[in-house]
Amino acid sequence: MARVALVTGGSRGIGAAISKKLKAEGYDVAATYAGNDDAAAAFTAETGIKTYKWNVGDYDSSSEGLAKVEADLGPIDVVVANAGITRDAPFHRMTKEQWQEVIDTNLTGVFNTVHPLWNGMRERKFGRVIVISSINGQKGQFGQVNYAATKAGDLGIVKSLAQEGARFGITANAICPGYIATEMVMAVPEKVRESIISGIPAGRLGEPEEIARCVAFLAADDAEFINGSTISANGAQFFV
Ligand code: CAA
Repeated sequence: MARVALVTGGSRGIGAAISKKLKAEGYDVAATYAGNDDAAAAFTAETGIKTYKWNVGDYDSSSEGLAKVEADLGPIDVVVANAGITRDAPFHRMTKEQWQEVIDTNLTGVFNTVHPLWNGMRERKFGRVIVISSINGQKGQFGQVNYAATKAGDLGIVKSLAQEGARFGITANAICPGYIATEMVMAVPEKVRESIISGIPAGRLGEPEEIARCVAFLAADDAEFINGSTISANGAQFFV
C-alpha cells in the first residue's frame, strides 16, 4: 500500500511543488491550506490531490483536520511542515501582532502539525518529519527578526525530535531553502529583491521543484540514517 504524506501549505508555492513531487513518487498525498479556497480548488483540479482547510496555528483545528485526513487516507507516514508566512518589518517598527502571527503559524504550527501524529508514528515504528526552515533561520535577515526566530526554532525542533524518534524508525530533518521564486519572495520590494539576487552566486532564484526533490530524498524509506540534519538549497548564498 502507498505511504501517506501530508504537506501543510501544500497547495501553493514550495508546498505545491512538494505535494506534486510526492504524488509523482507514489505517495497518497493530502495538502492543507489556510484561506485561499480558489487556489486550493484549482490545485485539486489540476493535480487530483485532495486539499483540507485549517489553521496550523490552532492545535485543536490541526488535530481534528489530521484525524480527518487519516480517516480518508490512512495513517500519515510522512509529514511535511511547510506552511509559513512573513510579516517583515525592521525591528524598531515590528508590532506585537507581526511577531505573534509569525510565531503562531511558523513555529507553533510545526508543533501543532507534528505532535498529534507523533504517537501514531511511534506505535507504527515509522515516520518522516520534514520541516521547511529557511536560509534566514541560519543567517538571520534584516527585517525578519520574527521569521528568522521561527526558522531557527525549526532546526532546534528537528534536532530534538531526531533524538527522540530514532529508536522508533522516525526521522526528523529540516530543509533550508534560499530565495525561491514564489509569491512570498516576489512580495519583497523589487529593489531589495534585486540586491538579494545579486548576492546569490547561482545568479538566480531557486525553483520550488528544487526544494521538492530534497523532500523526496528525505521521505524515502531507505533514508532512515539521515536524521536531525539540515539540507541547505540556496544557490551557494550561505554556508553553515
Ligand atoms: N541590510 C542593511 N540595511 C538595510 C537592509 C539590509 N539587508 N535592508 C534595508 N536596509 C536599510 C535601507 O538601506 C534603509 O536605510 P536608509 O533609510 O538609510 O536608506 C533602511 O534600512 C530602510 O529600508 P527600507 O526602505 O527597505 O525600509 P522599509 O521599512 O520600507 O522596509 C523591509 C523594510 C520590510 C525589511 C524591507 O527592506 C524588506 O522587505 N526587506 C526584505 C526582507 C527579506 O529578505 N524578506 C524575505 C522574504 S522571503 C522569505 O522570507 C522566504 C525565505 O525563507 C528566504
